[in-house]
Amino acid sequence: QTQTKTLDVEQIRKDFPILQRKVHGKPLVYFDNAATSQKPKQVLEALDFYYKNYNANVHRSIHQLGEEATAAYEKAREKIAEFINAQYEEVIFTKNSTEGLNLLAYSLTSGLKQGDEIVISQLEHHSNFVPWQQMAKHLGLKMKFIEINENAELDEESIKKNITKKTKVVSIGHISNAVGTINPVEDIAKIAHENGALMVVDGSQAAPHMPLDMKKIDSDFYVFTGHKMLGPTGVGVVYGKKELLETMRPFLYGGEMINEVKFEDTTFNKLPWKFEAGTPNIAEGIGLGVAVDYLTKIGMQNIFNRDRELLDYAMQKIREVDGIIVYGPKERASILSFNVNGVHAHDVSQILDSEGVAIRAGHHCCMPLMSVLGITATARASFYLYNTEQEVDTFINALHKVKKMFGV
Ligand code: ALA
Repeated sequence: QTQTKTLDVEQIRKDFPILQRKVHGKPLVYFDNAATSQKPKQVLEALDFYYKNYNANVHRSIHQLGEEATAAYEKAREKIAEFINAQYEEVIFTKNSTEGLNLLAYSLTSGLKQGDEIVISQLEHHSNFVPWQQMAKHLGLKMKFIEINENAELDEESIKKNITKKTKVVSIGHISNAVGTINPVEDIAKIAHENGALMVVDGSQAAPHMPLDMKKIDSDFYVFTGHKMLGPTGVGVVYGKKELLETMRPFLYGGEMINEVKFEDTTFNKLPWKFEAGTPNIAEGIGLGVAVDYLTKIGMQNIFNRDRELLDYAMQKIREVDGIIVYGPKERASILSFNVNGVHAHDVSQILDSEGVAIRAGHHCCMPLMSVLGITATARASFYLYNTEQEVDTFINALHKVKKMFGV
């Protein structure tokens, strides 16, 4: 069954050449979308077309190719701004979410004083954890962690207890990459603002899967990456409110981000280029614009609804299998984190791979969360718009094989 209520998955699958390949002689079932998504031919062709037809550096070359490259790159920014309901100057291109979060951790902590507090949560990915932790160590700031309840949801009391007048920055993932929790970032942004703190959201797992409206979420910053949302690797985005970006120190210095350089000092470029030092990933930025076109054409609400449909199916099927522990809340994004009783997640992943099923196993760059859950690893299946119920059946059959091999 691939003609779903919400999307024509059969049609969508035709756009993804990689889905035709076999792994260990079996059709590929790609359930590692939270790590990176596959790319439609429209994105692949845009990269190829750029390099074959108008490869040139942007913003500096007064010639036809340079102008074409600049126009396409800046057009991509415009599309991304529209995609998240932001202004053009508020979209900063980065290399990935990690670079975006480092940019914010450096810029937003400069000027803070000893004892000022940064609040994150126990759910965070290392990229929304280590940059804040290390800046806190360096500057004598205090880190506080919103706790999770038994369903791996942020505990409401803990949110209120940890965000206080001492808080300067709150940084929370929109969707947990490890267990799929969808966090109430809009509500947390309100609480942060009531306390005079800035709100950062790591939207790496949300941007590919749900409609985003920066005005509605009202966080001060929102970070995401292109490669999880059908785009190429090497390009990500920091959204920031214009009035805040204007006042912030740049993170990377060098070419492109300057206005005038003298021996004594430098003045910086206007937004958004003030934060974009050096030659950017031009083809990748253009490719991300094409990915955004692709997602927009299908509709982010349709993608969100389809995710829900497939996840519900997978949850129902996995619950019918004995000896499996599923982590995370009932209401979740399309991430299914689990363990097979007594079997290491790496072994689960390896046996699934022999059946052509690609999942991720490990701590998912969330070692602090794993310690709270009292485990070291999970197996994680994560779905996207080209996955089908039939693939879920293959995955479940492969789990039965794991159980049989280990006598579970
Ligand atoms: N953050 C990515 C994941 O969760 C790489 O797999």
